[in-house]
Amino acid sequence: EAAASNQWVDTQRGFISRDIFVDPRVYQLELEKLFARAWLFVGHESQIPNPGDFFTSRMGEESVILCRDKKGEVHVFLNSCRHRGMKVCRYEQGNTSLFTCPYHSWTYATDGKLQGVPLYKSLYDGVLDRSEHSLIEVPRLVKYKGTVWASWDAKAPDFFDYLGDAKQHLDQALDCRDGREGGSEVIGVHKWIIPANWKLAAENFLGDTYHNPSHRSVDLIGIGPSAAAGVKGRRDDELAKAKHIWVSFFQGHGVHSAIAPEQNEYVNSFLSDPEIEEYFRHCFEERKRRLGEQARLLPFTGTIFPNTSYHGRQPRGLCAWHPHSPTETEAWRFFLVDADAPAQVKEYLRHYYMRYSGPAGMTEQDDMENWLYATRASMGTIARRYPFNYQQSMNTSKMNDLVPGNVSTQMTEEMARGYYRAWSRYLNDSDWDIIMGRDGTQHAVAAE
Ligand code: FES
Repeated sequence: EAAASNQWVDTQRGFISRDIFVDPRVYQLELEKLFARAWLFVGHESQIPNPGDFFTSRMGEESVILCRDKKGEVHVFLNSCRHRGMKVCRYEQGNTSLFTCPYHSWTYATDGKLQGVPLYKSLYDGVLDRSEHSLIEVPRLVKYKGTVWASWDAKAPDFFDYLGDAKQHLDQALDCRDGREGGSEVIGVHKWIIPANWKLAAENFLGDTYHNPSHRSVDLIGIGPSAAAGVKGRRDDELAKAKHIWVSFFQGHGVHSAIAPEQNEYVNSFLSDPEIEEYFRHCFEERKRRLGEQARLLPFTGTIFPNTSYHGRQPRGLCAWHPHSPTETEAWRFFLVDADAPAQVKEYLRHYYMRYSGPAGMTEQDDMENWLYATRASMGTIARRYPFNYQQSMNTSKMNDLVPGNVSTQMTEEMARGYYRAWSRYLNDSDWDIIMGRDGTQHAVAAE
């Protein structure tokens, strides 16, 4: 337990200091101890289908290039020239055969190798070893169902150990609606800046169902979190009868999902176009046929520690909460659709996503107001004397046979407590055995 608490985090009593949302010293520790070690979501392979394709992304505060080289291999490079550090790629995405630094024109191939140095023979011959000046590349990279994840720590645990049993929930966001594994594509990325601490967004997606009153207005018009979407007052039968679960994982992840009753028919009730609805009905039948019992798992939201969240139903996609400073976050939402869905389904979803999420989306605006003021209030001299309260449903989570993990069948803040226990282990500079609970604490916490 010592590794899972510190001067800011007391999850046994359920209090967390407001300092962790505003203090520059805490923020610096996060960049060094957390973002430089944890597995981070970088992008999706559908964004770079062809050799030479690239998408500039972020890991912590740093710009990185997700790139498919000439031979088709996927890389993640630090977007910084080995000469004086200039960004070698200043576009958000595109296709290239070389990254040419705009400062003095060193050029790098798509596999990161330093290929050209102007006036090499006359100025550098015999001194500069080009083979030692490739772009800096992440030591660890994993491709999973189209998503690309990377870590700057060569000793980071295997990605699937890191993901643990949260994988089956994340899969719901990544797989096709008809139950086939993978097969999704990104149809767009929304990017915007929120004047709030990045953890408030990550925490919201851990399964903070308690905040639904924030979305009362969109609920009333039928696109909100009650799932009475599309037609006012109509409720998806499957969801109404589902058993909701809130699951916390030792690695710091947390999810809100549901187990649907076996026989009911699941229709995406936000759909009002019969042809679109037919596509989803078909997908659901296929999904039941393929997955059987497993098709009963319905995902809502989750956060994969530390800063990747997902929506598993609609709008389906991944969010990355990139820190800019203690009080500023760059939010990226990657919207996903089935790659082989009819064009009209993709178009319908694209519009739905924009209405629901993002900087102008009706739901996300509600959340941003909350995060913004929670951050601002944490700067106040008086306010900072009073920690935030995380005491909700302290003892309702247990291992049971519904799904793996520490499961509660009532709303709980256990996912947030688990998240900050994991956060503390990183900030306390624990080794991977302790962070991953290989020392036996994983079982001890789960049994509490
Ligand atoms: Fe890139 Fe000088 S900084 S070539």
